[in-house]
Amino acid sequence: MKKLRRAILLPDIHYPDHIRANFTAIEPFIKDFKPDIFVYMGDQLDLDMISSWNESKPRNTEMKRLNQDYKKFDVLFLRKHEKLAPKARRIWIDGNHCQRADWYVDKHPAFEGMIEPRNVLKLAERGYKVIKFGGYYKLGKLIVIHGKYWNVYHAAKTVNMFENSVVYAHTHNPQIYAKTVPIDTGKYHIATSLGCLSSTTPEYKAGRATRWINQFAVVYLDDKGSFWLYPITIVNGKFIFNSKIYG
Ligand SMILES: [Fe+2]
Repeated sequence: MKKLRRAILLPDIHYPDHIRANFTAIEPFIKDFKPDIFVYMGDQLDLDMISSWNESKPRNTEMKRLNQDYKKFDVLFLRKHEKLAPKARRIWIDGNHCQRADWYVDKHPAFEGMIEPRNVLKLAERGYKVIKFGGYYKLGKLIVIHGKYWNVYHAAKTVNMFENSVVYAHTHNPQIYAKTVPIDTGKYHIATSLGCLSSTTPEYKAGRATRWINQFAVVYLDDKGSFWLYPITIVNGKFIFNSKIYG
């Protein structure tokens, strides 16, 4: 086996509703892990000030400013991660929250090009590969998407619909489901849903229970496209990898 490539997958940061402690733990890990590929799996920013949910509720977004969120997200996440893993290939997947900017432009076309994450953060110019909302990125034989299904058994639904191995975010809820064929080929597909890096008790849930936990993942890839995916659960800002405690 030739040298394995390493990828880090960061799901659902939801800036500014992220948990800072998760990143205090992840940042030194990035330095140790030395990812060749860095994937933001969607919903990097909340963008609730331009959400249609808040259109008639200005009190929900009082003092929230799009420009400020983009600037701070850039400094606290993108630039920091670029320094920690300067040679990594960088992938930005748009989630439904990122897409709020495009949905806003659908209603207010004069803002086209001015408020979308890919434009404001100059992602392509900075070397990021941008996967537009609904698209996918391939890590060998593993398909990476933001996530499409939200039902109770979303991992089963995902593997049945894709007929491929898939890792996704979106639900903020961990699940794994594998599908084999009833003949002895040894072939299977597996769908893995990751938790999130945001708060698991956001204000808009008003105390209702969620099925969310904090997670991210790493993937090892060989030259044939085979992959080994490891979801990593963060508990109270701490996780353990390779017998080392982070956070
Ligand atoms: Fe999300």
